[in-house]
Amino acid sequence: MSFGTTRRLPRTTSRRAAAVAALVLAGLLAAPAATSAAAPTALAAPDIPLANVKAHLTQFQSIATANGGNRAHGRTGYRASLDYVKARLDAAGFTTTVQQFTSSGSTGYNLIADWPGGDPGQVLMAGAHLDSVTSGAGINDNGSGSAAVLETALAVSRAQLQPTRHLRFAWWGAEELGLVGSRYYVNNLPAAERARISGYINLDMVGSPNPGYFVYDDDPAIEKVFKDWYSGIGVPTEIETEGDGRSDHASFKNAGIPVGGLFTGAGRTKTAAQASKWGGTAGVAFDRCYHSSCDTTANIDDTALDRNSDALAHAVWTLGTAAPPPPGDVYETTTDVAIPDNGAAVTSALTVSGRTGNAPAALRVGVDIKHTWRGDLVIDLLAPDGSAYRLKNSSGSDSADNVITTYTVDASSEAANGTWRLRVQDVAAQDTGYIDSWKLTF
Ligand code: TRP
Ligand code: ZN
Ligand code: CA
Repeated sequence: MSFGTTRRLPRTTSRRAAAVAALVLAGLLAAPAATSAAAPTALAAPDIPLANVKAHLTQFQSIATANGGNRAHGRTGYRASLDYVKARLDAAGFTTTVQQFTSSGSTGYNLIADWPGGDPGQVLMAGAHLDSVTSGAGINDNGSGSAAVLETALAVSRAQLQPTRHLRFAWWGAEELGLVGSRYYVNNLPAAERARISGYINLDMVGSPNPGYFVYDDDPAIEKVFKDWYSGIGVPTEIETEGDGRSDHASFKNAGIPVGGLFTGAGRTKTAAQASKWGGTAGVAFDRCYHSSCDTTANIDDTALDRNSDALAHAVWTLGTAAPPPPGDVYETTTDVAIPDNGAAVTSALTVSGRTGNAPAALRVGVDIKHTWRGDLVIDLLAPDGSAYRLKNSSGSDSADNVITTYTVDASSEAANGTWRLRVQDVAAQDTGYIDSWKLTF
C-alpha cells in the first residue's frame, strides 16, 4: 500500500545535511543512527463481537422478508438496508453521504461514511456491496461483508479512534449488476481525491456455510496484514482465485488504487485438501445457496463470520493507526522551470552530497508542478547515472490541474550522491505550466 508520504514531518535542508556530514567527517558527531527511537507501533484492534455482526444480519433478513424477499438494486429492500446502515453510522458520529446513480432504469445508491480525522492525503477505505440478487435475502452475499464493515466502523466509534490515516467506509449498490455502484463512485472522484486513497479493502461473502479462508493477493501490505492475522490464530489461508474481477475491489484496482480483501467462497466446490485443513465438507460448494433463495440467516458459518470481522478490524487498526514513515533528510530545489507546451522534455537538477552508499528502497520524491491540465505531463526521476524512473504517464482522462504529490521509488540500486533530475515533458497542445519545486527525502 502506498503509505509513503507525510507533509507534517520535520525537515532538514540539503544545507543542513551537508553541514552535519561535514561535522561527521570532522569527528565531531557520531553518524546519525538510521532510527534513533523505535517508531510507535500501530494500536491493537478490539475483538468485534460476533453477536453484533449477527444482529445486523437479522435486520437484513427482516428487511428482505418485509420487502418481497430480497434487498436487490431498484427494490424497496435495498433502500431499507441502506437506511438501516446509515442510521447506525449517523448515531455513531460518522459523516455519511448517499450517492445516487441510475442503472437498468432504476435509481441506485452508495453509502459513504467518513470518520473525522486522520491524514486526508492517506485515505484507507473498507467496503462491501449491500445489494442482494432478486432471488433471495443475500445474507451471506453480501449481508456478511456489509455487517462486518458496519460493525468495524461502529467499533472505530466506540474506541473514538484517532487514526493516522483518514478512515472511510462504503456500502455499494448494484454490485450484482456488474460492480455498478463502486465503479460509479471511483469514476466520479476527482483525480486528486482518487490519488489520496492509499488502499481499499473489500469484503464480499465472508460467512460462507462451508467456508474457505481466502485472502486477495493484490496489494502486498494489505495481504500481509490479513495473512499475519490468520497465522496468529493458526488458520491457514489460500489466495483468492474464484474470480479476481468479480467484486467491487476491481473498480478500485482498475483506477490504480491498491486493493485487498477477504472471501470465504461462493459456488466453487471445496476440495478434500481444503476440507482437511479447514473442516467442512469436501465435494460441496463453499456456499450452496449462492444467489438463491436459501441465502438466509441460516446460510452463515459463525466462525468464519467472526474471524473475518476480527481480521478486518485488525487491518483497519494496523493500517489506519500505523506511524507515518520516519523523517528523513530532505533535499529540495525551488527554482522554477517552465515546461514548454507540447514540447521537448525539461529537467530540474538537485545535487545530493555527503551521503554514503545507495539511495533508499523507498525514496520519496515530492513533486510540485503547477499546470492547467496534468494529463499532458510525463514525469520521470533521473538518478545521477541517468537511470530513469517513471513517476507518471500522460493520460487523456486525467483532467485536473497540477501535480502536487509524493511518489515512492525503489532507488536502492542507485548511488545516493550526485545530481538527480526531475524530467517533465508536456505531450499535448494547449495547457501549460512549470515545475514550482521538487524534493527528495532520503
Ligand atoms: N461478488 C460475487 C457475486 O456477488 C461473488 C464472488 C465470486 C466473489 N467470486 C468472488 C467475491 C471473488 C469476491 C471474490 O456474485
Ligand atoms: Zn452475489
Ligand atoms: Ca500542453
